[in-house]
Formats: sequence, structure tokens, C-alpha cells
Amino acid sequence: MQVSHLDRVSEIEKMCFSHPWSRQSLESELANDTSVFFVATENDEVIGYIGASIVLDEGYIFNVAVDENYRCRGVGSALVDTLVTLCKKNNLSFLTLEVRQSNIGARSLYSKFGFIKVGERKDYYSQPKENAILMTKYF
Ligand SMILES: CC(C)(COP(=O)(O)OP(=O)(O)OC[C@H]1O[C@@H](n2cnc3c(N)ncnc32)[C@H](O)[C@@H]1OP(=O)(O)O)[C@@H](O)C(=O)NCCC(=O)NCCS
Repeated sequence: MQVSHLDRVSEIEKMCFSHPWSRQSLESELANDTSVFFVATENDEVIGYIGASIVLDEGYIFNVAVDENYRCRGVGSALVDTLVTLCKKNNLSFLTLEVRQSNIGARSLYSKFGFIKVGERKDYYSQPKENAILMTKYF
């Protein structure tokens, strides 16, 4: 992901989440040495992105989001696959994340890549209030 992608990525954030990351937060995270971002594009337009933090041998997915007009076409899978491949290459021990309990689509996507439920955080999310499911993929 490059700075030139940030306008579209922040649009996708707004489309997908009740607490979207601002363009400014995305930009400062992109400049962080421990952050890794990938975008998916079609005809040079960003249609999805994934962001993660990698510190030593531990990875944490901040977010994965696909423009609602491009879902269920394998874009989310391609983004997760790209990140998982990078983590394997870098000998990570695990990759972890939180996901809303009701987010069946995202939970299925992560399960497909070998993430398993390792815990739950009560009322972790607001608007609407909801538990987070912690999912981890061990390498
Ligand atoms: C979750 C999300 C990234 C999936 O992106 P996508 O491009 O539609 O995903 P894919 O087409 O690669 O689908 C991958 C798998 O996810 C699951 N999946 C995706 N959408 C689904 C849905 N609506 N219901 C059930 N399963 C779904 C399926 O297991 C699918 O695998 P399959 O195609 O082999 O059946 C997308 O729905 C999205 O951006 N959602 C809003 C943002 C979000 O909730 N992000 C996760 C935050 S933790």
C-alpha cells in the first residue's frame, strides 16, 4: 500500500465500519516500521486492503476490508493469503485478530485459513455493543 491509495482505503473503511480509521491514522500507521499493508486493485482502483502489525515473531491483523461491490469474489481470501504467506516466510509463531461475534463472513474467511477461536472479549465493540471473538493462526 502506498500513500496514493489512502483516499480509497479510507472510503472503504467508512463503508465497512462504524468506527472507521481516519485517513490520518492510516497514514501514520503506514509509516510505522512494524506495520504491513497490502491492497487489492482492479483497473488500478483499490477494492480492498489488509493491515497488520508484526513485532518479532507475532502478527496482529488490524483490519481486512473489501469494497461491498466486490465481495464474494475471492478478494478477501487473496488478501489474507498474501499476509499469511509473508508471515510464513518470516517464521512468525502466530497471527491473531479480533472479530465481531456476529461477523459470520469474516469468521468464515479466517477459519478457511486455519484461524481458530482462542478466546472472547465481552462487550469489546460499541455501536453496536458486541463481544469480540479472538482468533489465532499458529504456524
Ligand atoms: C470479510 C470480508 C473481508 C470478506 O471479503 P470477500 O472478498 O467477500 O471474501 P472472499 O470472497 O474471499 O470469501 C472468503 C470466504 O469468506 C467467507 N465469506 C465471505 N463472505 C461471507 C458471507 N457473507 N457469509 C458467509 N461466509 C462468507 C466464505 O467462507 C468465503 O469462502 P468461500 O468463497 O470459499 O466460500 C468482507 O466481507 C468485508 O470487507 N466485510 C466488511 C469488513 C469486515 O467485516 N472485515 C473484517 C473485520 S475483522
